[in-house]
Amino acid sequence: MRAVRLHEIDRESGPQHFRVEQVDDPVPGPGETLVKIARAAFNRRDVFISQGLYPGIQLPCIPGSDGVGTVAAHGEGAQGPPPGTRVVIDPTLGWGDDQRIWRRTAQVLGMPHQGTFAEYIAVPAENVHPAPASLSDDEAAAIPLAGVTAYRALVSRGGCTKDDVVLIPGVGSGVQTFVLLFAKKIGAKVIVTSSSDEKLERAKQLGADVAINYKTSEKWEKDVAAVDGGPSLVVDSAGGDTFFRAVNVTRYGGRVVVYGGTLGDAKLRPFSLFWKQLDIMGSSMGSPRDFAEMLAQFDPSPGSGQATLKPAVDKVYPMDDVVAAAESVDKGAQFGKVLLAIGP
Ligand SMILES: NC(=O)c1ccc[n+]([C@@H]2O[C@H](COP(=O)([O-])OP(=O)(O)OC[C@H]3O[C@@H](n4cnc5c(N)ncnc54)[C@H](OP(=O)(O)O)[C@@H]3O)[C@@H](O)[C@H]2O)c1
Repeated sequence: MRAVRLHEIDRESGPQHFRVEQVDDPVPGPGETLVKIARAAFNRRDVFISQGLYPGIQLPCIPGSDGVGTVAAHGEGAQGPPPGTRVVIDPTLGWGDDQRIWRRTAQVLGMPHQGTFAEYIAVPAENVHPAPASLSDDEAAAIPLAGVTAYRALVSRGGCTKDDVVLIPGVGSGVQTFVLLFAKKIGAKVIVTSSSDEKLERAKQLGADVAINYKTSEKWEKDVAAVDGGPSLVVDSAGGDTFFRAVNVTRYGGRVVVYGGTLGDAKLRPFSLFWKQLDIMGSSMGSPRDFAEMLAQFDPSPGSGQATLKPAVDKVYPMDDVVAAAESVDKGAQFGKVLLAIGP
């Protein structure tokens, strides 16, 4: 089969090292399902791996955590949708039985386990779910890692309700666009920030109530505080100074959920935490239950009157243009997900 592989990694030139190559087809082992991939999607994780900024890198590797395709075959004893069913893959491998925390041995699909940037992938059968019928392959491929990370951070950890005012810093991020979709579906009021007016406009079209440019409005936290006395719930992945300022602007009794640190380490002002009685929570990926609940958001039951959620897709690149796709994720120019067309 054709697959995208990384043989070398480098802090500066990382995205340029993705290569399309011919490799052996995977064979599904006991309890595994073989999926023929149609579309895959990039996450910042794939670029971090190419730059050597991820723990435990093993080379060569086939990256990619997100995929949609069709069931091609089942290994011995594997139970799941019959061959030909259109499916998405849950990218968390071996979460375990505890909803609160994943096992230390749990992995994210795509290095060291073979990833979705390939024509075929064999994964545990329990990670294979029918794709939401209302979504195209492109839309469905955008969902898995970003969707489950966003859902767990906002809902399972953050406990978002319709009475919350939610702050989403850097809404252009693949995960944060899903936080916006889910928060609006719940009925919360949403404040978003971004470096780009164009992305803020897109976010407003997806339902954002207040949109602030953190590049042109240097004291953006003042604008945030002016909205109903500040957010009651923050979901952040920027880290660094953005996390520090977001915590400081959170209202009394608020919750702050963090799942990423794009800008690096953050300072904390203890006074902000203890005086305002804040809760700070970490979140990563999601349990099988989180994944199933998240996926159900995209298939409203007939007659429920609920609108169909549409993931934000930035651009679909042919598999052979994987370097250009990786470079665009590296630059952060996208709004929503960057996809790779693996199949027709
Ligand atoms: N723990 C987990 O399970 C998990 C899962 C997924 C991702 N993550 C982490 O979460 C982070 C985001 O991942 P992603 O895939 O969504 O990345 P991404 O699509 O590459 O998004 C990065 C975004 O960061 C935002 N940003 C940059 N500087 C900022 C600043 N000063 N203030 C606010 N926002 C800023 C930008 O938003 P604008 O373009 O709008 O300015 C940019 O689009 C990464 O660090 C990733 O490793 C963790």
